[in-house]
Formats: sequence, C-alpha cells, structure tokens
Amino acid sequence: MQCLKIEGGFPLQGEIPVHGAKNSALPLLAAAVLCREEVIFHNCPGLSDVAAACRILEQLGCRIRREGSTIAVDPSAIGNHWVPDHLMREMRSSVVFLGSVAARLGEASLCFPGGCELGARPIDLHLMGLRALGMEITEQERHIYARVPNGLRGARIHLRFPSVGATENILLAAVLAEGETVIENAAREPEIGDLAAFLNCCGAKIRGAGSGTLMVEGVPRLHGCSYTVMPDRIEAATWLCCGASAGGEILVSGARPEHLESLLPLLERMGCRLRLDAAGIRLQAPERLSGCGEVVTSPYPGFPTDMQAVLMACACSAEGESSFEETIFENRFRHSAEFEKMGARIQVEGMKARVYGVRSLQGADVTATDLRGGAAMAALALRAEGSTIIRDIRHIDRGYECLERDLSLLGASIRRVNEEEIKS
Ligand code: UD1
Repeated sequence: MQCLKIEGGFPLQGEIPVHGAKNSALPLLAAAVLCREEVIFHNCPGLSDVAAACRILEQLGCRIRREGSTIAVDPSAIGNHWVPDHLMREMRSSVVFLGSVAARLGEASLCFPGGCELGARPIDLHLMGLRALGMEITEQERHIYARVPNGLRGARIHLRFPSVGATENILLAAVLAEGETVIENAAREPEIGDLAAFLNCCGAKIRGAGSGTLMVEGVPRLHGCSYTVMPDRIEAATWLCCGASAGGEILVSGARPEHLESLLPLLERMGCRLRLDAAGIRLQAPERLSGCGEVVTSPYPGFPTDMQAVLMACACSAEGESSFEETIFENRFRHSAEFEKMGARIQVEGMKARVYGVRSLQGADVTATDLRGGAAMAALALRAEGSTIIRDIRHIDRGYECLERDLSLLGASIRRVNEEEIKS
C-alpha cells in the first residue's frame, strides 16, 4: 500500500494550480448520456473517480477518448441500461447515473453504492423526485431498477433538504421530461450551476441555477457541445488551508473567490492576508494563526462540510479556541483522532468539536480516514515538526490528482512511498 511521507515545519512559497472540480465532472459525465452527439469536456481532473465514471459510460455503450485533461464522450451508440455492481461500487456518487440513463434509455438498472465513511447516505430524495417525474423505481437487495413506462412528465418537486446529488439526478431527468419541472429548495452549490450551464449548452432550458428554485422546460433531445469544467473550490480551499497552516506566502492560481465566500473571511479572521486578482488568490500567513471562532457547516452558500477538516487542521496550531459543528454528515470528525496523534487538542462531542490550539505539533504515523480528512492530515503535517506518514491514501487520490506533485510546487517536502520502504 502507498503512503505519503511529509517533512513538516517549513513555510510554503510559490504558486499552485487548481484543477477541474471532481464534484462537477462526475455529474457532467453522467449528463453526457442524455446527448445525441459527442460532448467534449475540457479541464477534467485526473482522478480515480473520473476514471470510474468513464468506465461506467463505456459499459453503457459510450465511446470515450481521453487526451490530457480533455475527455470526449460519444454517446451515439449507447444501448446498455445496466451498470455492473463492481463499477457502481468504485465510485460512491455513481447513483447520479440513475436519472440520466433512465431518462435517455427508458430504463436503468444499477446497485446502490451504499453508505460510506461519512455515514449512511440515503437516496430517498433522489427517488422521490424521479418518481414524481414518472419513473417507476423498485429497490431489491440494494439494487435499483427504474423504468419509464409512460414517458417523463414535468412536475413540481419540493426537496425537504437541498441535497446536491438529488438535485442533480432530478435535473438530469427533468431536462428531457415533457412540460415544466420546478425543483424547490434545490441545492445552490456552484456545481449545480455548472451542470445547468452545460445542459443549457446542449439545448436544455434551465433557469434559476443558484437561486434555490430550478425551473426546467423539457426538450425532446439534447445535442453535443464542448464545455470546460469549473475549477475545484474544495481543492482551492485545501491549498489555502495548507498555506495558512504551514505558513508562508502562496498563490492559488485559478481559484474563484466567489465560490469561497464562506472560507475567505475565516482565513482573514485567523490572521491571513488575502489578495484577490486575475491570477487567483494570494495568501500570506501570519507567524501564528488565531482561532477561527465558531464554524457551522451547512448547504451552500454556508460553510461546506467538505472544507471542515482542512480548516480544523489550521485551527489546531492557532492561538485560542475554535469550534466546529457538523450538520450535513453524521460521521465527519474521524480525522480528529489522527490529528491528536500529532499533538492536536480536540474534544469531540457528537456533531460538535472544540479545538484548543497548541503551539507545537509533531509528525506522527496517521491513517487517512476519508478523502477530505486525509488531505487535512497533509495540511497539519506541513505544520508539524518532523516526519509524518499518512497511510491509506487511496481516499486522498479520489479527490486530488497528485497531492504530492502539487504541494511540492510550494516547496513542501512530500513524497509518495511504499509501505515496505517505511519499514526498512
Ligand atoms: C455532495 C458532494 C459531497 C459533499 C455533499 C454536501 C458530490 C459527488 N459529492 O454529496 O462532496 O460533501 O454534496 O455538500 O458532489 N440526504 C438525504 N436523502 C437523500 C440525499 C441526501 O437524507 O436522498 C442527506 C444526506 O444524508 C446528507 C445530506 O442530505 O445528510 C447532504 O447530502 P447531499 O447534499 O445529497 O450530498 P451528496 O450529493 O451525497
């Protein structure tokens, strides 16, 4: 198994790029199924989840061409409506294929990828919305079978919670439904805006992205187009927090400040100086950070659950206390026990964590608990004196193209090693 080895305690300096957004690329690839002609996606991140989505598309009968960060999907020969279990399990968000495959082919058969490290991940809202559009869906032993016996019809759908995945799934089906669909309390995340913009490029008629109410006028077919995936705001946040945690001065190039409005004031409150310009976001860290106060995760435009762990890494060495309340996923503080191995002082009670900043942290042998928690361990390790080993980095590889390559651009001492190399 591979690990990351990090020598910490040195400030960072330099420029680091932001790649295309994972959480945008996945629904965009699922959306390609709806089109009748080739679609070309630029700026796709080179991630294992993206590769898994491409394998699902191939299984469905799409032809894929990949060149660097460009992926061309030709869906004209699509014919299979089922996805084998092993492909579904490779990527937890694969359920987003349900809406598009059933809308395009009239049926879809796939298995539910199940709960994940963050907790149970129900899909009741996805199913409720798709049923409202006219899908007949049966669930059997964690397999989902969807049929569209009488065509899809627009409907008014109210989500009791603005679920990102449910909004995407319903949107994907609604674009080809007859008549108008209104999704109330829709997720407002920028990735929903990216999906809507792509679909509109292909001839869909979607209004209201970002407002919480999506209005979709169904069209009979979608054509192809060429589209550039938006930059990854979670990756941008990770780089900013690495800079804040380790100290130094960095430029996160290509980061979009308008997607980071809940994070940037917190970094400033912690003492970082930020400069926003055409190149991206420049961060200059203070000698020592101050605590970030009370942070509560919530749906966009609130503070994202995916940025909670990396910001907590910053809070660990800050002067004073910080507190975090998680309201989205029930199991999202597992990184804190690993942080404590490096000397952090954190008290977790249910969905709340209180961080008592310490002056010094030491490198340790830790294990990535999940994708963002794993990246946060790297941010903490950059601050800690001495050597840190992060094990089980397959979680990190799901969301970062090559963490060690990118952080090395900032002068970080980080490399990928085999477990055997550590023992010897
Ligand atoms: C997406 C992101 C993930 C991010 C999350 C919240 C992708 C691939 N993943 O995940 O990185 O952390 O948004 O911003 O884009 N829920 C239900 N019923 C449902 C669906 C969701 O109760 O049918 C609940 C979930 O249990 C959870 C909350 O809603 O508590 C948020 O889930 P959701 O917004 O759907 O997140 P994902 O789309 O899975």
